[in-house]
Amino acid sequence: MVPESARNYQKTLRLPGGFLLQIRSIRPDDKAALAGAFRQLSGDSVHSRFLVYKRGLTEAELAYLTEVDFVHHVSLVATLPELEPERIVGVARYILINQEPAAPVAEFALVVVDRYQALGIGTVLLKHLANIAREAGVRTFEAFILRENTHIRELFEHCGFRVHGEAEGELLKMILDIGV
Ligand SMILES: CC(C)(COP(=O)(O)OP(=O)(O)OC[C@H]1O[C@@H](n2cnc3c(N)ncnc32)[C@H](O)[C@@H]1OP(=O)(O)O)[C@@H](O)C(=O)NCCC(=O)NCCS
Repeated sequence: MVPESARNYQKTLRLPGGFLLQIRSIRPDDKAALAGAFRQLSGDSVHSRFLVYKRGLTEAELAYLTEVDFVHHVSLVATLPELEPERIVGVARYILINQEPAAPVAEFALVVVDRYQALGIGTVLLKHLANIAREAGVRTFEAFILRENTHIRELFEHCGFRVHGEAEGELLKMILDIGV
């Protein structure tokens, strides 16, 4: 996928539970909504996503997370378009860590606001992000997760990608073959 189409990605779908969900590219003007979504996360979800406990996102972090180039760093948000103002309920991103032409690898991360978890949003976000990555030639996603993070492991099992985990100190490095 060329960067411009990743930059303008937008799909609307209905979740099995009836929610209308929009998956779209993150934008620089999402900073306030992203900060709002972060404030809705439980401490455990923050820890699982960022691997540290933190109380908020700094201006620099918000800039880093929203001003992405859609080549080395690609990010999608899940929003509820029926709510006014539009609300971000999930975020997924990948960052290229190895650009070897034959086998590019990207590190990815995913988070869904607690009250919207277990509705299928994380699965949808990962699948759409993987579609973009695949079209950009990426074949492998890696993610560092807490060993006790059973929800993300269940999500991987349902995504249909070949997955394996390697111990990496206190963490697990999950390796997903998305090139299917
Ligand atoms: C992991 C995470 C992204 C999953 O997102 P999600 O939108 O809840 O995932 P889905 O609804 O697609 O669920 C996938 C599976 O995970 C399980 N699951 C996810 N969240 C759950 C919850 N809060 N309670 C119970 N089960 C849950 C379900 O078993 C579900 O399986 P099902 O299809 O049989 O129902 C979300 O729990 C989260 O944001 N966690 C904190 C951040 C994190 O761990 N990120 C991973 C590091 S990259």
